[in-house]
Amino acid sequence: MYLIAEFLDQVRSEVDVTLDSLIPTENDEPKNLHSAIRWSVFAGGKRVRPAIVIAVGEVLGATRKRLLATAAAIEMVHTYSLIHDDLPSMDNDDLRRGKATCHRKYGEATAILAGDVLQTLAFKAIAEDGRLSYECRVRIISILATASGSPAGMAGGQQLDLDAEGRITTIEEVELIHRHKTGALISAAAASGATIADSSGRDVEAINEYASKLGLLFQITDDLLDVTQGTKELGKTAGKDISALKATYPAHFGIERTRELAVKIRDDAIAAIAPVEKNTEILKGLASFIVDRTN
Ligand code: IPE
Ligand code: IPE
Ligand code: MG
Ligand code: MG
Ligand code: MG
Repeated sequence: MYLIAEFLDQVRSEVDVTLDSLIPTENDEPKNLHSAIRWSVFAGGKRVRPAIVIAVGEVLGATRKRLLATAAAIEMVHTYSLIHDDLPSMDNDDLRRGKATCHRKYGEATAILAGDVLQTLAFKAIAEDGRLSYECRVRIISILATASGSPAGMAGGQQLDLDAEGRITTIEEVELIHRHKTGALISAAAASGATIADSSGRDVEAINEYASKLGLLFQITDDLLDVTQGTKELGKTAGKDISALKATYPAHFGIERTRELAVKIRDDAIAAIAPVEKNTEILKGLASFIVDRTN
């Protein structure tokens, strides 16, 4: 059996080599900026979004070497979003991926710039990926830009998240926040993998449905872990959502009911890929990993 843990380990090491080749070194000036970027990118991180690009791409027939730059680019956008998410003006966090947050280590201005640079490096990596046709590159750039920005993407979702703090929200609102701040980038990862595989029709519809469920599942699980795990396991300060009065699933439903809902969404995600007439074991494994993870 091909274990998901093995797949994730492999993706992590290959994506990290790609990231290393795409990001300026600590000897490039301004050294503090590049070292801040590297501090955050190479602090660890599960590399789930790159894994989705690669898993979807490979299931639909793309070779790994054509998927790696895009996988790394999406991880760069994700890491930028974490650096900015942790800023004092946003979630005000001191710990990320088991280390001091970027602004705690390098100062707020450098952290903002590190996020800015990661975002533009991501689009540069795709634009300059000679393994892909120009048309393919433009399509992925469009997918990623839409999913990162607003109104359909992550940055818009982050605004919704901040606006909902301390306020009574409906569960529909919470779902909308989660789909934007977290789901959009996860859907973009899957859509990019499918684009590189040059896939269309029924398979892509099924994959999009799967990814949409995976995105919601990812943030619900993140909310659950915040109230069930300790700071050490998480590598970020536990219990922050309650103290910041964040709009979360556990705040609405409690831990047990949220867990039941998460398992149901995992099952729905797995059911969504049933029409794909390929070996989708790895995609099923990813859905289970997302709900079963401990950090
Ligand atoms: C954390 O993402 C932020 C959310 C979108 C919930 P991850 O749990 O993927 O964080 P890393 O990349 O593994 O550190
Ligand atoms: C973050 O959600 C989503 C993005 C970074 C876009 P959270 O604020 O819940 O993520 P953590 O818990 O800080 O990782
Ligand atoms: Mg946040
Ligand atoms: Mg946060
Ligand atoms: Mg969280």
